[in-house]
Amino acid sequence: MTGPVLSFEGKTALVVGGSSGIGRAIARGFRDAGAATHVWGTRARVEDYEKPDELDGIDYVQVDVTDAGKVRAEAARLRLDILILCQGTVRYDRQEFDVETFRHVVDVNLNSMMACAQTFYPQLAKSAGAIVTVSSTAAYHATRGNPAYNASKCGVVGLTRTLGQAWANKGVRVNGIAPGYVATKLTEVTTAHPDRLAAAVASIPLGRMGEPEEMAGAALFLASPLASFMVGQTLIIDGGMTL
Ligand SMILES: NC(=O)c1ccc[n+]([C@@H]2O[C@H](COP(=O)([O-])OP(=O)(O)OC[C@H]3O[C@@H](n4cnc5c(N)ncnc54)[C@H](OP(=O)(O)O)[C@@H]3O)[C@@H](O)[C@H]2O)c1
Repeated sequence: MTGPVLSFEGKTALVVGGSSGIGRAIARGFRDAGAATHVWGTRARVEDYEKPDELDGIDYVQVDVTDAGKVRAEAARLRLDILILCQGTVRYDRQEFDVETFRHVVDVNLNSMMACAQTFYPQLAKSAGAIVTVSSTAAYHATRGNPAYNASKCGVVGLTRTLGQAWANKGVRVNGIAPGYVATKLTEVTTAHPDRLAAAVASIPLGRMGEPEEMAGAALFLASPLASFMVGQTLIIDGGMTL
């Protein structure tokens, strides 16, 4: 994108999981469109990330979303119009078949989304705000080695529908995006291996991976007045992979 196509001047946005990958592109999109933009990630300081200058003009705070007390304390400092829930993790090599690991992944990917949404709900109701969740195309097919990732992402799609229905008449619109393959640190297990990368790309009708900015465009749309009659929907953005 060259320059903002939407304006969020006067709005405040928080991207949970905005420190890297898709969330970082979403945060940059809101910043470039004029929003006062905040990001939460797991590291102590923004300088602990690669290319911290990409987050220039964005307020960074360390918040592990499994720490409910920290989520509440940091939420109390903000007055949001837009909440993007982009946090996510995965464990490979069949680790998710271990019940403790399963619990952790579901805690980060699903339970923390409900905790954040509920924590920010009163301020979003006051601002007639919007929530955008980030699930995955994994919610629409099996993922042999990743039961926790799969179950949590299915849960996010359901949570998005249900909060969308529950809060629509309270002034809070809830929708989501379900990305397909995007090169980030989460997908290095695929992108760092040429044979796996080729197999992934071969499954995508557009013939390439998605860019984080292409996920950002849809998130900005859903948070904007252009989507004012959309509630509880999850947009699949996967270059046609799930077709
Ligand atoms: N990449 C893909 O192909 C793809 C496809 C479908 C869905 N998704 C989803 O897109 C979202 C973003 O993932 P990504 O691909 O951009 O990967 P990423 O670069 O690893 O981003 C994940 C984000 O979640 C944050 N996070 C992880 N655990 C956290 C915790 N306990 N507390 C707070 N924040 C936490 C990370 O913080 P740190 O940077 O500090 O680790 C990071 O900001 C995830 O929900 C993922 O499941 C990605």
